[in-house]
Amino acid sequence: MLGKVYDFQKNLEQHEDLKLNVFKKCPLLTPCDNKVRIYDRHKKNESDVYMFGSNNYLNLITNDSVINKTIESIHKYGVGSGGVPTLSGTTEIHEKLESLISDFTGFEDTILFSSGFTANLGVILGLIRPNNLVIQDKFNHASLIDGAMMSGAKMLRYKHNDPAFLEKILKENYDEFKDGILVITDGVFSMDGDIANIPEIIKIVRKYNAILLIDESHATGVIGEKGRGTLSYFNIEDKSNILLSSSLSKALGTVGGYVSGSKEIIDYLRIFARGNLYSSSIPPSVCATAIAGFEYMMESDIVEKLNNNASYLRQVLAEEGYNILNSITPVIPVIIGDEYKLTTLSRELLDHGIYISCIFPPVVSPNLSRIRINVMANHTKEDMDYLVDVLNKLNSRYSIKSSKE
Ligand SMILES: Cc1ncc(COP(=O)(O)O)c(C=O)c1O
Repeated sequence: MLGKVYDFQKNLEQHEDLKLNVFKKCPLLTPCDNKVRIYDRHKKNESDVYMFGSNNYLNLITNDSVINKTIESIHKYGVGSGGVPTLSGTTEIHEKLESLISDFTGFEDTILFSSGFTANLGVILGLIRPNNLVIQDKFNHASLIDGAMMSGAKMLRYKHNDPAFLEKILKENYDEFKDGILVITDGVFSMDGDIANIPEIIKIVRKYNAILLIDESHATGVIGEKGRGTLSYFNIEDKSNILLSSSLSKALGTVGGYVSGSKEIIDYLRIFARGNLYSSSIPPSVCATAIAGFEYMMESDIVEKLNNNASYLRQVLAEEGYNILNSITPVIPVIIGDEYKLTTLSRELLDHGIYISCIFPPVVSPNLSRIRINVMANHTKEDMDYLVDVLNKLNSRYSIKSSKE
């Protein structure tokens, strides 16, 4: 049983000996903002670096109004919830957040979970039984895949963002599974930064009387009017056959997750999603953080700033000849391809003051190892130009621009 653990330990030690920064990142000493101070474990010193690897898209982690309202809430409610939601763990502020999210998403009701991961497990395991069928986009998040596998249902996957492929699977399986089919897609794909073709997908889902679950983790606060997400981005008003899940740990800058849907489904999940029934609720102060974050998003032009930054950086990278796949969001992959190349590149980027996510298989296919840039609303043009300058400098040795899919 432990052979794999020892093998992994050896691998870790080899990376540490080579002073490579792949498995264990250097800890941050300051808040996760556009610039951060880190402790470099290998060099044993502190350094200031540009942050291009954080999901803190809207910088709400350091937003004064969010911080003040969080502190006020700690003074009012203390630091924990003290129970599971169905016993003592529901305060008025939990209910306020659920109702604010329902207004924000345009759904009848919302249930909170302790993370986006458990929200996905909760909705899938709450609704799906072994005699059902779950169909997923090939690039869906791990929590969605795990939920479907744990449910014991049949799971099939369709080619990334390919509604025709989805329809083929639905047609082939409809007779066996009719009235028991859940289709799942990310709204914004977390590794590619493209957006699911929801208008086509929902047409097909309704045609086969299935239900569509959209994971909005990287869409909330990022796309759509004032960050309302994928349905708003596509101007889809009709919520029939649709459920949403999302995370409060990305643009909202805190922790927690939620599922929005019809009142009947959410009432059912409050009891049958075991991650809700058997797990303590998020602290009230986390609800206050999220509420303040949603309010700030709606009152300010922060989402617009984020998207202006993202289009600037995407345009410059594409013009320079980098392969950024089909990204149209602040998640921007730059394909490196070879894993070894990416491993050493990751160290060099840090040496040049760039803190960024390096994405290896199995998260992406072996030939598509990449750096993933996350743009933030307060990145300056100078920050982004510096990143591109560093990539250009390293390109002569790493041939990044010629990396193909
Ligand atoms: C698409 C997607 N869904 C769900 C999650 C899980 O969210 P959380 O970090 O809140 O558990 C993530 C985070 O990595 C994600 O990218």
